[in-house]
Amino acid sequence: MELNWLPLKDHGDETCRLIAVEGSLDIPFAVERVYYFCRTDSAARRGGHAHKELQQVFVCLNGSCTMLLDDGKERQEVRLCDPCQGLYVGRGVWREVYDFSPDAVLLALTDRHYAEEDYIRDYDAFLKWVMA
Ligand code: TYD
Repeated sequence: MELNWLPLKDHGDETCRLIAVEGSLDIPFAVERVYYFCRTDSAARRGGHAHKELQQVFVCLNGSCTMLLDDGKERQEVRLCDPCQGLYVGRGVWREVYDFSPDAVLLALTDRHYAEEDYIRDYDAFLKWVMA
């Protein structure tokens, strides 16, 4: 599956990076919610679900982690390690996140508030939902 990387401009200088993300300009939606993974253990394994409607952009602010994306036809692993690159993950994509470095901070920007009914947490149910 094709990965949708969104380049984010670095306004910083030689002492510091400064990266701004403007909703509906740098990313294709207005941001409704922000969450982040941090202080990760090497055993941390997140995701393991898809969303029916939610759109997200993931930015690894520090360290690195691996994300598995699966659209029901193809699956792809990608390493996130650059705070100047957002990874857009749209509707109906199964994701898993693992192999966090100890210093990893993974930011998620989303277009909706948290809603458990938007989740598909069972992989077989996800495949059925994609095929329907
Ligand atoms: P979940 O989305 O399953 O986490 P992950 O993507 O890491 O697998 O959420 C785990 C728990 O955290 C779940 O009980 C709901 C809660 N949660 C919120 O309350 N708000 C949020 O924005 C998120 C992402 C999770």
